[in-house]
Amino acid sequence: MNNNIAVVILAAGKGTRMKSNLPKVLHTIAGRPMIEYVFDLVKKLNLQKKIIVTGHKQEWIKKYVPSGVTTVVQRRLLGTGDALKSAMRCLKNFKGTVLVLYADNPLLTVETLKKLIQRHKENNNAATLLTARLENPSGYGRIFRDKYNCITRIIEEKDANDYEKEIKEINTGIICFDKDKLLQALAKLRPDNRKKEYYLTDVIEILHKEEAVIDALKIKDIDEALGINSQEDLARAGRIMQKRILKMHMQKGINIQDAETTFIDWGVLIGRDSKIFPFTVIQRGVRIGRRCSIGPFCHLREGTVLGNDVTAGNFLEVVRTRISNSVFVKHFAYLGDSFIGKGVNIGAGSVTANFDGRSKFKTVIKDNAFIGSDTVLVAPVTVGRNASTGAGSVVVKNSKVKDNTVVAGVPAKVLKRGKYYG
Ligand code: UD1
Ligand code: MG
Repeated sequence: MNNNIAVVILAAGKGTRMKSNLPKVLHTIAGRPMIEYVFDLVKKLNLQKKIIVTGHKQEWIKKYVPSGVTTVVQRRLLGTGDALKSAMRCLKNFKGTVLVLYADNPLLTVETLKKLIQRHKENNNAATLLTARLENPSGYGRIFRDKYNCITRIIEEKDANDYEKEIKEINTGIICFDKDKLLQALAKLRPDNRKKEYYLTDVIEILHKEEAVIDALKIKDIDEALGINSQEDLARAGRIMQKRILKMHMQKGINIQDAETTFIDWGVLIGRDSKIFPFTVIQRGVRIGRRCSIGPFCHLREGTVLGNDVTAGNFLEVVRTRISNSVFVKHFAYLGDSFIGKGVNIGAGSVTANFDGRSKFKTVIKDNAFIGSDTVLVAPVTVGRNASTGAGSVVVKNSKVKDNTVVAGVPAKVLKRGKYYG
């Protein structure tokens, strides 16, 4: 455990610029709420004390807070300085370093945070800021340095003059503080700025005036600096995260034909030598076995599990469905709430009609069954082992097609016993 380090995650803000009813930190990036990425960082750092400050729609956020993280409520949203102040009462008997994370900063990596902490401790700083140099710094607080290159204060965009707006070094919001110095400085914060808020960033000027040592670590990968304040920021973060996820799969031996048109959520497992064709969307939690061929134009939704050697081809949607080894479902199909046995072939245009307008029902297709083109299986329905359906069949609700039986027609009736080959 990283002793005498406490982390405080600020997540109480309204996120007004998102123009959404959903709290900002619950918006998803690659299928995962922003806040979960931040909790991941905290978990990997293994710190002594973990605090999250919530406020706006705190009830919604509560569900995502892992055990071991203490929740503090900021009663009135008076700014980031006030938010941190509300967390300090949980750190009364604590001595050491306070690491502040903003919950709207999900692209940050644990390696960067470790470097920041190390620098802070080695130099015995009062504050160590994580900064970045951005060609377009608009929206961020600017780092103001004096002629000796010492950091003297942070100027928020809203309070900056034209000259100050030209500064390209920005505050990522991530700062390590010496706890005692932080506490003293927080007490001196005043809301004398355009927004009439208690800015945490003003602590830097207070510390500088007291001649405390303020240092900074400049990050190289500027993507990590991205703070999410608007839907545009969210989309940008989505693309960056997407690149990271695809890279990770490629490094594990997955063949992704076109990284520009492949969207794989966080938390998807894919087996080696599987191939993903363009225009494919794979959602969180999907599991794909080895040597599978997916797409083009394939949508694998939540609860989908594919065995090995599955071909899930063009224009296919699958949800809450388990597909066993060596299944072919190559052209236009919808499989929902289904179990598909080994070696099954599902013909073009086949559909599991799983929803009757009120409830969802299951379809079971057993090993080596052959579903003819354009079959509609009205769930609940079972198709037995080695059974077949003729092209254009409608297998009606509650049907149980027996093993080794051929059914066809609308409604589907038994044609013969034994496998049907067209
Ligand atoms: C903040 C920084 C800015 C920095 C940028 C980096 C301040 C004053 N400004 O600006 O210097 O460049 O982040 O992304 O800190 N929050 C609370 N309580 C509040 C207000 C905010 O908990 O009363 C939380 C929010 O939920 C959010 C974080 O603090 O997670 C930052 O707030 P936000 O409003 O996004 O600040 P920025 O304008 O981005
Ligand atoms: Mg922000």
